[in-house]
This record gives sequence, C-alpha cells and structure tokens, in this order.
Amino acid sequence: MILLVRGDREYLRAPGEELQTDLGVLTVPEDVEPGQRLETHLGEEFVVREPRGPDLFEHFERTGAPMMPRDIGLVVGFTGAAAGDRVLDAGTGTGVLAAYLGRIDAEVVTYEQDSAFAEVARENMHLAEVEDTVDVRTGDVRDELDELASEAFDLLTLDTEDAPEVVRHAPDLLVSGGFAVVYSPFVEGSRAAAEAAREAGLTDVTTHETIQREMQFDERGSRPDTRGVGHTGFLTVARWE
Ligand SMILES: C[S@@+](CC[C@H](N)C(=O)[O-])C[C@H]1O[C@@H](n2cnc3c(N)ncnc32)[C@H](O)[C@@H]1O
Repeated sequence: MILLVRGDREYLRAPGEELQTDLGVLTVPEDVEPGQRLETHLGEEFVVREPRGPDLFEHFERTGAPMMPRDIGLVVGFTGAAAGDRVLDAGTGTGVLAAYLGRIDAEVVTYEQDSAFAEVARENMHLAEVEDTVDVRTGDVRDELDELASEAFDLLTLDTEDAPEVVRHAPDLLVSGGFAVVYSPFVEGSRAAAEAAREAGLTDVTTHETIQREMQFDERGSRPDTRGVGHTGFLTVARWE
C-alpha cells in the first residue's frame, strides 16, 4: 500500500488501484515508488509516500480506542522495546500499538476478545505489512495465562480495564529484566495496576501521566496550544527482577 498525498489530502491505495476525486482520475502504477509524483488525467499532482506509524494511526480501520503515537513513544522509551523482543499485548483493539511494535521487528502475540475486532486488526496488520511479526489471537488473554506462562516474554503491554488481573501473573510471563506496561485512561485503573505490580513482586513501579502540549508560534508570540491540556492517559511501568 502507498499513500497519495497532496496538501492535507491523503489517499491509501494499492499498486494498480485507481484514485477518483474532483482532481481527476489516477491509476497507481504496479511499480510505484515512494517519492514519485503522479498526475491525474487533469494534470493534478500527488506525491507518493510509504505509510509509516503515524499514517497507520490515521488510516487503520478503528475498533477499540487506539493508543496515540506519543504514548507508544513513551512505551518504547520506558521499556527499550527492540527488534527481536517477544511481546505479549492485550487487547489488540485497532492494533496500533501492536503494529508499531511489529514495525520495529518485535515479535508480538496480541489477544483481542472481540472476534470482529480481531478480524479488523488482522486486516490492519496486513495493511501495515507486519502480519509475519504480529500474531493476532482471538480470545480473553486472562484465559490463556497458564499456557502463556511457558513462553518467555520481554514485554507485557496491556491496554484493558482488567489489566491488573494480568499484571498479577507478570512474574510467570516475563523474562528476568522484562517490563510490564499498563495504559489506562483513568487514575483508578493505573493505581490498581501499580498496586497489582507491587503485590506481584515487580520492581521499579512508576506511573506517569502522558500530557503533550503542542506549541503555537505566531506573530503575537509563542505559547502552548490553548485548545486543551492534551491528556490521553496514564502509563504504569514495572519490571521483573
Ligand atoms: C483500548 S483498546 C486497545 C487499543 C490498542 N492498544 C491500540 O493501540 O489499538 C482495548 C481492547 O481490548 C479488548 N479487551 C479488553 N479486555 C480484554 C481481555 N481480557 N483480553 C483480550 N482483549 C481484551 C477490548 O475488546 C478492546 O478492543
């Protein structure tokens, strides 16, 4: 898949597919390359772009509320997620976190309890070209914990209300030095996750509010965007031994 970009317009197409808009008709060549400029039959130009993480966030079909790219950046920063890491993720939802991790060549096993959501997530993984590294499994991750305990994960990433229940099993799931991360939109959820992590014997348990302020630069001066504080949620991070 490639993106056809012109100003603030973006269209996702596969090679050979057609784009029809008020700017004319354009057929994407089979051998299309990023950086190419393609013209519609009316002579209107689009630039070809290879989709990256933030583009996938915009273009994935959405089911469960996707994690924001900035929060994923924090997950990677706090845990050092890297190529070759084995990640247990739940719930898959739209699959944005899973796809980002797949794109850095982590091996991701991700559980989604809603079978229709899981099907959409598999299509999203195909779009992100990470179906080889991201294994979307249908089911409640809590039902699989005994079986998963025989596998050694470097990371546990949880974005579910019942995350504290899973965190209690983190010592059985994680390799020594591995991290558990819980994303929660509410204080109550993150506090429960932190308490579960401490009770399970995890160390270095911290919770962080993830606020981002976009700056506005104009002729009057420079200041943070006044449209909101940019709260998305809380990240609780903990480590096994
Ligand atoms: C907020 S979404 C996850 C979004 C995801 N992190 C992303 O970046 O796209 C939460 C998803 O978890 C699923 N879920 C909740 N509890 C679950 C469980 N115990 N096992 C598997 N999936 C679960 C829900 O159906 C929902 O789709």
